[in-house]
Amino acid sequence: MEREFILLKPDTVQRGLVGEIIKRIENTGLKLVAMKFLQVTQDMAEKHYAVHKERPFYPSLVKYITSAPTVAMVVEGPNAVAKTRNIVGATHPKDATPGTIRGDFGIDIGRNLIHASDSVENATYEIGIYFTEEEMVSWDPIRQPWVVE
Ligand code: RTP
Ligand code: MG
Repeated sequence: MEREFILLKPDTVQRGLVGEIIKRIENTGLKLVAMKFLQVTQDMAEKHYAVHKERPFYPSLVKYITSAPTVAMVVEGPNAVAKTRNIVGATHPKDATPGTIRGDFGIDIGRNLIHASDSVENATYEIGIYFTEEEMVSWDPIRQPWVVE
């Protein structure tokens, strides 16, 4: 069982695509365990994107992610990381396959709508930036036996 961290970036909120994108995540069958609407602070952005600190795009990335509200989510299930990354699509929307979130809604790498952790380890680290353990909700979706054998 894996946990995946997802952030609907400021462009998703500003463009009114929150419902559309959450629907796609919900449709996978992955179980929602936490969700909140928040403006990312400078401190949170620096922690989240510490791995990119030396990259030329880092200042604009931090500015983008802190520029308007976001929606943070945690989903859980078998292969949650790979499944989510697949429906998100390639980093640059021009390379993202139609049918993926970035492929269907994006055109620019600096406005690629959604973040999803790229490994279980990074998901654990990023969940710790956005949520406390008490905010993880334990529940049993009635559909579960029809989603996971
Ligand atoms: P994310 O972390 O946001 O889910 O995206 P990712 O794994 O597909 O891509 P990553 O390499 O981790 O890059 C993080 C975010 O930085 C911005 N970026 N801009 N201008 C550029 O060349 C460039 N490269 C990356 C994007 O917002 C990307 O999602
Ligand atoms: Mg990444």
